[in-house]
Amino acid sequence: MRIPPQLEDYALRTQVLDFAPALSGAVEARLERDACVHVSQGRFAAVGSWTNLSDHLPAGLPVFEARSHVAAPGFIDAHIHLPQIDVIASAAPGLLAWLARHTFPAEAAWADPAVCAQGARFFLDELARQGTTSACVFGSVHAGSVEALFSAALDRGQRLVAGKCLMDTHCPEPLRDTAEGGVQESADLASRWHGRGRLSYAITPRFAGSSSREQLRLAGDLARARPELYVQSHVAENLDEIRWIGELFPEARSYLDVYDRAGLLGPRSIYAHCLWLDEADRARMAGSGALAAVCPSSNFFLGSGLFDFAASLAAGMGLVLASDVGGGQSWSMFEAMRGAHAMGRLRGTALNASQLWYWASTGAAERLGWGGQVGRVAAGYEADFVLLDAAATPVLGRRTARAASLEEWLFALMILGDDRAVHETFLAGRPSKPADPEPQT
Ligand code: GUN
Ligand code: ZN
Repeated sequence: MRIPPQLEDYALRTQVLDFAPALSGAVEARLERDACVHVSQGRFAAVGSWTNLSDHLPAGLPVFEARSHVAAPGFIDAHIHLPQIDVIASAAPGLLAWLARHTFPAEAAWADPAVCAQGARFFLDELARQGTTSACVFGSVHAGSVEALFSAALDRGQRLVAGKCLMDTHCPEPLRDTAEGGVQESADLASRWHGRGRLSYAITPRFAGSSSREQLRLAGDLARARPELYVQSHVAENLDEIRWIGELFPEARSYLDVYDRAGLLGPRSIYAHCLWLDEADRARMAGSGALAAVCPSSNFFLGSGLFDFAASLAAGMGLVLASDVGGGQSWSMFEAMRGAHAMGRLRGTALNASQLWYWASTGAAERLGWGGQVGRVAAGYEADFVLLDAAATPVLGRRTARAASLEEWLFALMILGDDRAVHETFLAGRPSKPADPEPQT
């Protein structure tokens, strides 16, 4: 079954997966086993049981059979770095050494527009291959990296959040902007791109280690002046980093407080990691509405620490999941989910698959302010979805076939799944997995 990419109006006979929080607060997953999904002009025109809907489809509408596959909301990766496509799998003893040895040198190459254009295509192809329909993306310091990404995402009709890194200190000279120049470039990029297609701009101070007090203050001014923009950064990832930030900003109560003082905490803020927050920080995250992007794959790879799900949920923090490539070891949100599960276990918290899947898809859409628009396979929503194949490998097929409940089925797929389980990825109704990946050198 291959749907022609130009087809604007079609139906699928398939299974449909949906997630919603129940009254108890626990997430409930539902599966419609024989469903009809009518896609029209980038949205779901109708979704329901085949018996109820099939007789009401427009005459002559092409119908595709995918009965052994499951249509599910596309994954949303809440934190990932475009210029780290070649940094992934670079060994270092911890965050600061990894930045200095591998990451900063690799990001310098993104001064070249040709690197940006080719890299952006590769990056978006890989998101699609992995079933990720939206992401919150850090560019390099160069405005051109974000220009290339937005331009490619606009062509694909993709919903995407991105921003150029602000970094005016403590990094190699070729990667430095200036406090004012960097924020002005961010404002210009936001004016050019925010709200175009399904694109959003994120003010992106990389972290308090590479932005001066002045740059953080100006970034905060921009966030106040343009509350429709997102803010994204890193916080409390690594103990050496935290000690260093304490030396750089002795006036701040905590690492998070550095951003708070600059006016960078709000309901559109996304902070990656949040591993070493204290109770006051967690209360402040929850009170401000800022989101924690939990990045287990990266935290395991760099040995950064374990996210405290119990304390964060008790404090009422909003959580989303992320790959953090190139600290993360894969673009796959299956890996993010199973990493979060392992991390929870290591701190005594049992997270179920429905909850993790919700954080990686429907829940992320809602937390990012897209509720009612995207994140569900339901009538009226943007048709950003995946067709999953739970029998993509022999072990996966055997184990999921033996699942006694939907939760058990989701759990097995989450633990065993990867890009092979993503049969197709749809952006606004259009199949978008690259058929023939470009050869890479
Ligand atoms: N802190 C500052 N920059 C980075 C980055 O690129 N990756 C991660 N994981 N942490 C950071
Ligand atoms: Zn990161």
